[in-house]
Amino acid sequence: MLRLGVNIDHVATVRNARGSAYPDPVRAAKLAEEAGADGITAHLREDRRHIADADIDALMEALSVPLNFEMAATEEMQAIALRHKPHAVCIVPEKREERTTEGGLEVAREENKLAHFIAPLRDAGCRVSIFIAADKPQIEAANRIGAQVIELHTGAYCDYHYEGRFAERDAELARLTEMATFADSLGLEVHAGHGLTYETVQPIAALPEVMELNIGHFLIGESIFRGLAPAMEEMRRLMDDARA
Ligand code: PXP
Repeated sequence: MLRLGVNIDHVATVRNARGSAYPDPVRAAKLAEEAGADGITAHLREDRRHIADADIDALMEALSVPLNFEMAATEEMQAIALRHKPHAVCIVPEKREERTTEGGLEVAREENKLAHFIAPLRDAGCRVSIFIAADKPQIEAANRIGAQVIELHTGAYCDYHYEGRFAERDAELARLTEMATFADSLGLEVHAGHGLTYETVQPIAALPEVMELNIGHFLIGESIFRGLAPAMEEMRRLMDDARA
């Protein structure tokens, strides 16, 4: 079955906009768990713009479903991950000035460094995922460094859709399709995420190699109108319909 990982970062974005104690991302995570999330994703950014260290402590304490800890490849984040030993870590590129994770990780260029970086995480029992664009050399490099999972970056595909650039969207979807098959043929588990919405999720959910989608910003926004559980239920229905 295709798993849905719910990213609760942007509950913390709303909280931090006022420097208040609410809304609590851990409460959202528990609600998502009750509504059938297969996992919770949280990105502890270097600048702590949304999720805070205390949120990670509380999530590790509170969750019954796996936590997917998104992190940059820095010593600070590695130490935090090794302290908590979450079920999964997803290594993402991070730039201070970006609004969100803009591109995939440059694995091919930093192969040695990343291989050394992920080894202790794997040894600690974390399932290591690498967030990359649908690009063959990056997938081959992710495989060589010993990642168990790749998460394909669906941001460009979603952006093209909303910009009405449908030829480019379809070309990107074709790349994602081909690279999901390629990664699977190497023995990598394939995940996908970033920017997915009700309008864009189905062609990605239909890819048979994709085992997990990680979705956050849209779901948290949609939950203003529907509530988090109904927003998730509609996403789940679309994912299952696409798969069927
Ligand atoms: N997957 C990864 C690796 C991400 O970095 C993000 C954004 O934090 C997501 C999935 C979720 O993206 P969105 O919030 O746009 O749904």
